Amino acid sequence: MALRLTVNGQQHSLDVEADTPLLWVIRDELGLKGTKFGCGAGLCGACTVHLNGQPARSCSTPVEMAAGGRVETIEGLGGSDRLHALQEAWIAQGVPQCGYCQSGQIMSAAHLLASNPAPSRDDIVAAMAGNLCRCGTYSRIIAAVESVAA
Ligand code: FES
Repeated sequence: MALRLTVNGQQHSLDVEADTPLLWVIRDELGLKGTKFGCGAGLCGACTVHLNGQPARSCSTPVEMAAGGRVETIEGLGGSDRLHALQEAWIAQGVPQCGYCQSGQIMSAAHLLASNPAPSRDDIVAAMAGNLCRCGTYSRIIAAVESVAA
């Protein structure tokens, strides 16, 4: 199946099976390895990207659902020569431990701040609840998001 997809502002024409998980297209077809495979079942959030501006679990999103759409991954979050404010905050707060889940965490946080620039702590906790971290970096994640919030 040939489909068009815009990823981080670049258009792609891809020849892939319709039911291929978007995550495999991002990682294996496009070589964008920042988006991670965790559970593969839509449960952990490690694979979170934005699809048409909404957070999406790319492991459980068939690529045909993204056809013609706009995908943003962690690689596209900042500018070409700068980090996103959340990425700067992640560094400043020393958020990551093993780091594996963090791109999904940041993509969820970015969607939160795009839709609610001044979230309360409860808003942050609720928005991030679907992103699991086995290292338990939750308190630093909240602090980093709060530091960027208006
Ligand atoms: Fe997609 Fe866990 S890898 S939600």
